[in-house]
Amino acid sequence: MINPRIITIDGPAGAGKSTLAKEIAKRFGYVHLDSGALYRAIGYGCKLAGVNLKNREAVLKVAENLKIELLPDGRVLLNGKDVTEKIRTPEGGLLASQVAQFPEVREIVVKLLRKIAEGKKIVIDGRDAGTYIFPNAELKIYLTASPEERARRRYEELKKKGFNVSYEQVLKEVIERDRQDENRPFAPLRVPERAFVIDTTGKSLKEVLSEVEKLIDP
Ligand code: CDP
Repeated sequence: MINPRIITIDGPAGAGKSTLAKEIAKRFGYVHLDSGALYRAIGYGCKLAGVNLKNREAVLKVAENLKIELLPDGRVLLNGKDVTEKIRTPEGGLLASQVAQFPEVREIVVKLLRKIAEGKKIVIDGRDAGTYIFPNAELKIYLTASPEERARRRYEELKKKGFNVSYEQVLKEVIERDRQDENRPFAPLRVPERAFVIDTTGKSLKEVLSEVEKLIDP
């Protein structure tokens, strides 16, 4: 058992990273950093600006001038406006995944995250938290689950929020995002060295939590 200052949780969409991160934050007194929210905010900001997301120069120009804030309660502000709910859509995930391909966009996000983390105990969830943002993190977790299970969870979550989506559509979107995230040349989604890999297929949050709790010194 260890008493880590930094805990990273990486893995594909719908693996349960943010739910687990929030629970760890609550139980052990960590600040939760949702790195995906920053890519979502940039993707959304680019959409509002009417930018073609394949145009690197244009995306960078917009991204450099966006003011993004991650508040301690998890809310995200874009140029001072609360966009927390607006960016948590299936489209928001795809927009995020597109802008996240560009190394310069990643640098903006990584700088911000490292700055927020200074001197705090943090639990961060994302795709490259343990491989790239905090390679020296004392505890690294990699969460995964079958694409079908991840899509089913995401589908239930979206339906609860009132989105009109089909399971097939969500599964397609999950697979497409996995493909983009695993195949980008810069900081792709990978299992970090020293990571504890947990396959959450068929497991409840409680079961996953009890596996993780064994790793952390209370
Ligand atoms: O919650 P979910 O896993 O579906 O999405 P998210 O964590 O909000 O991330 C949205 C997208 O942002 C991902 O599909 C990645 O393309 C990108 N991302 C990334 O590249 N690196 C991170 N550390 C976090 C997110």
